[in-house]
Amino acid sequence: MSSQNIYILAIESSCDDTAAAVMLNGKILSNIVASQKIHEEYGGVVPELASRAHQQNIVPVVDQALKKANIDKLQLSAIAFTRGPGLMGSLLVGTSFAKSLAYGLQIPLIDVNHMQAHILAHFIEEADFKKPPFPFLAMTISGGHTQIVKVSSYFDMDVIGETIDDAVGEAFDKSGKILGLGYPAGPEIDKRAKLGNPKAFQFTKPKVEGLNFSFSGLKTAILYFIQKEVKANPNFIEAHLNDICASIQYTIIGILMDKLKLAVKETGITHIAIGGGVSANSGIREALKKGEQKFGWTTYIPKFEYTTDNAAMIAIVGHLKFLEGDYAEQSVMASARLKI
Ligand code: KG4
Ligand code: ZN
Repeated sequence: MSSQNIYILAIESSCDDTAAAVMLNGKILSNIVASQKIHEEYGGVVPELASRAHQQNIVPVVDQALKKANIDKLQLSAIAFTRGPGLMGSLLVGTSFAKSLAYGLQIPLIDVNHMQAHILAHFIEEADFKKPPFPFLAMTISGGHTQIVKVSSYFDMDVIGETIDDAVGEAFDKSGKILGLGYPAGPEIDKRAKLGNPKAFQFTKPKVEGLNFSFSGLKTAILYFIQKEVKANPNFIEAHLNDICASIQYTIIGILMDKLKLAVKETGITHIAIGGGVSANSGIREALKKGEQKFGWTTYIPKFEYTTDNAAMIAIVGHLKFLEGDYAEQSVMASARLKI
């Protein structure tokens, strides 16, 4: 019986969250994330501080994941870890830890691509969650990524569109910084957008070829707009904060939806899955639901804890690769710019 049980310990440390999860046969037993508060005061992730915090967090986080799953490390079938993409210093902590643990336990080591993991998070075994059928389109939207991926099977993925500058989460966070909001600003902009008029202010959408995105122009447009208005009325931000947030969010969602519609048109695929921290945004969720009614899409949004950076999504990729016997060598190295 125990030989049929596949226990995966997964480790994620690509950016500013130290995470570990234990999975049994595709189901999550524990999913621990230690977020690093230290970056808040800097208004963004400071790479050097992130890797130091990972070093402090990794042992307690893994320990907690094993305890919560109520298993001993000797029961583990394999160790999966995020090889990239991400911040090199951060990736190195998880990679070295995973390598030494797998070596010590003499069990397989499995390298995982963080972007594939955001997509395959949809395949974690969960009651009440429908899995997308192949082929489907995946839109990964977070503080570090903005991609549209055509997913033909677990490991056959094509990036058909991506940002040429900032990620969509950065568009939220940098706009928030201009408005004096805390970091990360996405959740607060979302909250305030619900109370404001999305058409109060207009920001032009960038013109980018094909399925690619650009968000840096929007940030500059917002900055100039605010500077101009504040010059005329020093209380402009406070007086119109909800309307400004609603208008920014409306513009960002418009950019995402335009490209998604184009991707559906070009591929003929109407099953759409989203992932990444920005998929928590209530406006995006609403826009996807509208797409279901208006265009006949079927949309898939995973549980919130599987959309932001987490190790459960690394575990499911580890599980799927374990089934295929697709293991890494001890000589495997972290790769900051790993591609899908
Ligand atoms: O996936 P994630 O936790 O980490 C990265 O890989 O970046 O995503 C974090 C990003 C931040 O930019 C944050 O502002 C954004 O997700 N975010 C949101 C919302 N919740 C988180 N953006 C818009 N609306 C939200 N409700
Ligand atoms: Zn991520």
